[in-house]
Amino acid sequence: MRISPEFLAELRYRNRIDEVVSGYVNLKRSGSTLKGLCPFHNEKTPSFTVYPENGSYYCFGCQNGGDVITFIRNAENLDYIEAVKWLADRSGLQMPQEGYDDSAERLRRTIYEINREAARYFHQCLLSEAGRAGLAYLKQRQLHMQTIRHFGLGFAPNSWTGLCDYLKTKGFREADMVLANVAGKGRNGGVYDRFRNKVMFPIIDLRGNVIAFGGRKLPGEDGAKYINTNDTPVYKKSKNLYALNFAKNAKSDALILCEGYMDVIALHQAGFTNAIAALGTSFTEDQAMLISRYAKELILTLDADEAGQRATARAIGILNKTGLQIRVLQVPDGKDPDEFIKSHGAEQFKMLLEGAKNDIEFRLLKIKNSCDMATDAGKLQYLDEGVKMLAGVDDEIAVNLYAGRIAQECGVDKQVLLLRIREHKRKIQGASRRRQLREAVSRPQFNDQVNPQERKFKRAAAAEQTIIAVLMRNAELLQQVKQQLSPEDFVTPFYSRVYDAVVQVLESGRPFDLTALSGQFAPEEMGRIVLLQNKSQVYQNAAAELQDCINVLKSEKAKMTFIQPEQMDDAQWAAAMQDIGKQKKNRGAV
Ligand code: CTP
Ligand code: MN
Repeated sequence: MRISPEFLAELRYRNRIDEVVSGYVNLKRSGSTLKGLCPFHNEKTPSFTVYPENGSYYCFGCQNGGDVITFIRNAENLDYIEAVKWLADRSGLQMPQEGYDDSAERLRRTIYEINREAARYFHQCLLSEAGRAGLAYLKQRQLHMQTIRHFGLGFAPNSWTGLCDYLKTKGFREADMVLANVAGKGRNGGVYDRFRNKVMFPIIDLRGNVIAFGGRKLPGEDGAKYINTNDTPVYKKSKNLYALNFAKNAKSDALILCEGYMDVIALHQAGFTNAIAALGTSFTEDQAMLISRYAKELILTLDADEAGQRATARAIGILNKTGLQIRVLQVPDGKDPDEFIKSHGAEQFKMLLEGAKNDIEFRLLKIKNSCDMATDAGKLQYLDEGVKMLAGVDDEIAVNLYAGRIAQECGVDKQVLLLRIREHKRKIQGASRRRQLREAVSRPQFNDQVNPQERKFKRAAAAEQTIIAVLMRNAELLQQVKQQLSPEDFVTPFYSRVYDAVVQVLESGRPFDLTALSGQFAPEEMGRIVLLQNKSQVYQNAAAELQDCINVLKSEKAKMTFIQPEQMDDAQWAAAMQDIGKQKKNRGAV
């Protein structure tokens, strides 16, 4: 797992953090730092900060932070070596040949190859005798050969070992076929094809790798309509979108999100090459973030049934946090886009698309449809629910517009409605602020995954932090610390590891640099280290500050390793209790 410090220094030099991050985040200069909207959580005001001077970034909203390698690990969902490789490729550096463990990456590469071969096999089968039923089915669904080829559709023949046998001739191991999830493990120890007698839809990622499959049963067969690849080392269904590999190249600022593989394919065939689908899951935040990277607007066209409507409302909730414009296209007569295009043609669909309502109109209409507008009671209900809905909308102009519309529909004064909306907005805001405050107060103390001991040993941990922070800035003080402290003298395990790593960097004679640490620490740990690094202010007298902290740490450690309560005599117990009382008072005074 070791890559030479010289290589890392070169990598870091060639991949300036502000340039790399700019590929993902719209950064604005703010003093010596750059700020933008965090790509790792939803936010409306920027708390994502890049520090070009020391090559780090940190998000004050979600605590994600680290160096440029950590950033790519998080942004591209890669492990450490893959991220190093990614950056090396980006900057035209040749990776060092040996000396690191790339087994995880090798496995991933093998799975990509298995998937590619499997897709090839399924496609060949579709065009051969064994795939006759599959091809007939796709033709009956009015897909052209060109479309079938474009999407790489295939057929898994009705055989238990057709694919496995084929993959064996290509030299793949059974265990890897199982890991790729194209094969299952039989009770007798052998492997069998997971997809049998199915029309196959390969799922392709943004780099062109086949990462998974959906398999549809033929009409008249028993069982679930689709079986899909489960999550594998190369595939997480909640983080991918079907056909985004094609749709991202469509010349449009908008994407169309529909429900199924077949809808997407029919839309592309009809010329709407910006259609995508979630992959048999309910829509996720990760998918919303992904969409917002490639589009300004999203048009939702989920099924017209009740489940589809519920899914639409849920997706709007998630999408609203991304700043995407949202519209909802409702296909008439309870049809899905695929069926609609077949019976009405592409031109008609285009008109539907143009008439698609924005998400506020959509929700308002839903409320209205649930109220009996012929009665006063129904109108009051519409007014009440409409006010509540509009109170959640940020866009002032839209609120004004739709308040006017509701007022007209119910024959009431618009100003009164606007007043009510403002009142309700304050109420929502208050509740949300109180919740955020509660979370902020409780988060670091109760949910510290990185250094769970920090909360328990506050005083020691604070001293440890300062010791490390001072060392990062003042390499010349290394000997002063080392003579008195070894990593075992640290109280909290995480800071003990950080201290050890920092000492090792400094002992090699190099100045401290974050990239030297990112191979040993997990991405979530890197965030905490950045915090330490940026905390290291210039002390008037760093050596004295350091010594104070060393003394505090030593006395705290001594207290801890003192006598267990059950072994104390009465005097010791009284002294210990008194000590705790004193500490509490001190803390209270701060
Ligand atoms: N889906 C799934 N498993 C199922 C049913 C559905 O994974 N048992 C997912 C698939 O991704 C599918 C999507 O949900 O594409 C939408 O389902 P549905 O509308 O039932 O299927 P269509 O793709 O429209 O298929 P068809 O038109 O052939 O019925
Ligand atoms: Mn369908």
